[in-house]
Amino acid sequence: MTMTLVLGATGNVGRQVVVQLTERGLPVRALARRPEQANLPGGVEVVPGDLSDVDSLRAALRGVDSVFLMWPLISADPAQEIADTIAGSARRLVLLSSAAARSDSDDAISQVHRSVEKAIERTSLEWTFLQPHGFAANTLGWASQVREDGVVRGAYGPVYSTLIHEADMAAVAVTALTSDGHVGAKYDLTGAAALTQVEQVRVIGEVIGRQTRWEEVSREAARELLLERIPAKYADAMLDAFARLAGREPDRPTTTVEDVTGVPARTFAQWVADHAAEFGPAER
Ligand SMILES: NC(=O)c1ccc[n+]([C@@H]2O[C@H](COP(=O)([O-])OP(=O)(O)OC[C@H]3O[C@@H](n4cnc5c(N)ncnc54)[C@H](OP(=O)(O)O)[C@@H]3O)[C@@H](O)[C@H]2O)c1
Repeated sequence: MTMTLVLGATGNVGRQVVVQLTERGLPVRALARRPEQANLPGGVEVVPGDLSDVDSLRAALRGVDSVFLMWPLISADPAQEIADTIAGSARRLVLLSSAAARSDSDDAISQVHRSVEKAIERTSLEWTFLQPHGFAANTLGWASQVREDGVVRGAYGPVYSTLIHEADMAAVAVTALTSDGHVGAKYDLTGAAALTQVEQVRVIGEVIGRQTRWEEVSREAARELLLERIPAKYADAMLDAFARLAGREPDRPTTTVEDVTGVPARTFAQWVADHAAEFGPAER
């Protein structure tokens, strides 16, 4: 059986890729910067490594046939060296990229993902790119406000997004890693439906059984809240993306998850149910 190396194995999507490969009885090696804290399923080989240290990646690639790669670095500068190093050992690669890679925008997120994709396209790897839109997991950034008083403060509340469950992205990745017919595909991935941010907050409250509501604040105040969680250039790119979408009709969700895996994408309510504990206990 072929060995798959999973990068970002402690993150939202990579952890699910590890779980789903393990459930299929397939050998998995996970790369983590702090293996002792990785908390991955038993039977998974966890090796120390850092994408900024190509030697550690080379060591982790020994005996590996397939790779799940996500890009955690702010810069794409080492992308070609990393892509060539992977191509030196493995045959197949699934990249967690972003729908931003397809946009014509020059923001930081789009540029990094486009550069990483181009670096991989220059190798001999049999690649598949996952190009998801917003992750449902982004709303965990609201968890402390939900736990505090149920009031979520942010900008651009009426803007729609088609939030996707990490388990659905992982299911597409595992299908592409383990079956033929996905080489050269760039999968446009969304969740089941478009919801505004205001509606997302309402769904969280309904599913966890607490009063929740959206409170619109200025872009500047929203930026300050985002800076508690993410670097400034990502916060600005995110707010710019919301600004571009303001006043627009919702994008139609894609059917890619179902087309690839045979199972429809999970709803946002399902995602909240899977993460209810992180939003705090229900009111009595
Ligand atoms: N959020 C969205 O809406 C969205 C939409 C489209 C695309 N994306 C893309 O999805 C990716 C994020 O995926 P995610 O949410 O699954 O990840 P995540 O939960 O943010 O986790 C980050 C992962 O990266 C690993 N990591 C960080 N620095 C590393 C390094 N120097 N070397 C090796 N590993 C490192 C971390 O592992 P350790 O700390 O354990 O080592 C962790 O497993 C990003 O590339 C993002 O641009 C996100």
